[in-house]
Amino acid sequence: MAERQRILSGMRPTGRLHLGNLHGALENWVQLQNQYDCYFFVADWHALTTDYASPEAIRQNTWDMFLDWLSAGLDPQLCTMFIQSDIKEHAELYLLLGMITPLPWLERNPTYKEQQQQLDQKDLSTYGFLGYPVLQAADIIIYRANGVPVGKDQLPHIELTREIARRFNFMYKSEIFPIPDGLLTESPVLPGLDGRKMSKSYGNCIFITESEKEISEKISKMMTDPQRIRRNDPGDPEVSPVFAYHKLYSSPAQVEQIAEGCRTAGIGCVECKRILIRNVISRLAPIRERRLKLEGEIDKVKQIIADGAARARRESVITMELVRRAIGI
Ligand code: TRP
Repeated sequence: MAERQRILSGMRPTGRLHLGNLHGALENWVQLQNQYDCYFFVADWHALTTDYASPEAIRQNTWDMFLDWLSAGLDPQLCTMFIQSDIKEHAELYLLLGMITPLPWLERNPTYKEQQQQLDQKDLSTYGFLGYPVLQAADIIIYRANGVPVGKDQLPHIELTREIARRFNFMYKSEIFPIPDGLLTESPVLPGLDGRKMSKSYGNCIFITESEKEISEKISKMMTDPQRIRRNDPGDPEVSPVFAYHKLYSSPAQVEQIAEGCRTAGIGCVECKRILIRNVISRLAPIRERRLKLEGEIDKVKQIIADGAARARRESVITMELVRRAIGI
C-alpha cells in the first residue's frame, strides 16, 4: 500500500475557539484525520512573535485551544496533535533555514507589513517577527508534509515555505523535503454577532463550548436586517447574519421556510432566532459535554499532549539527522 499523504496544520493559541474557527478550519481537520496521516499543533512560539511583551496568556490559551480541539473531535488515536514548543527540533531547523533565506523574501511577505500596521500598538520591528514565515516553514517541512490546509491569508507563507524547501534541496543536493501544497479550505463565511467577521478582538463571537444560556442570549441580541424595523415589514434574509447561521445549522426545509417568511413578514425576528437557538444548542451540545468531561480529566489530557509530542519528536528527529548530514555540520 502506498503511504498515506501527510497533512500538517497549526493554529496560534488564541484561547477558546469560536464558531468561525470551527467551521473555517477545525471541522475540516476532523474530516482529514480519517484519510490522511495528520499532524496538528498549537503554534505557541508563533504567538510569542507578537505577544513577547505579555506572554502570560499564551500558556492558558494553548491549554484551552488543545482542549477545544479534543472537544470538537480531533482524535489522538487518528492524528498526531502536539504543542510546538515541546519539539525543540523546530527551533534548530528554523535556525538553519534562516541561514539560507534571503532577506528580501521576508521583507516582501505581504503579511509582514500588513500585520505591523494592524497591530500598531505592538512593536513588531523585531527579528523574530520578520522570521515568522521561516519558523512556519520549519514547522511544515520538518514533518516532510505534503499538504497544509490553511485559510487564504496563509497562502503567502505556504509559498515561502515552498521556496525555502526548494532552496534547501538545491543548495545541499538533497531530496529531503517534499514541496508542500497549500490546501485552501473552502468554508462558508460565518459572520459575527454584529455582522462583521467573527473575531475575538471584535467581541462578536459565539464560542464552541458556550452554555445554552449564553447561546440563547447572544443570538437573541444578534443583528438582523437593519431595514426591517417593525414586525410586519418584509425583510431580506441575505443581509441578516442570523440567516447565514440558519444555512449552517438548520434543515433545508427550515431554511426555505425562514427565507420565505422573512421576505413576506410571515415570520418575525424573534421566532426566527428561537428556531436558530434551538438548532445551535443541539449541534454544540456534544462539544460542550466533551469539554466539561475533559476538564475533569486533566491528567489524561496531559498524557495525550505528552504522547503527541513523543510521536512528533520521533519524526522530527529523523528529519534533523538527514538535514545535519546534508549540510555536513
Ligand atoms: N501562521 C498560522 C496562522 O496564523 C499558524 C501556523 C504556524 C501554521 N505554523 C504553521 C499553519 C504551519 C500551518 C502550518 O494561522
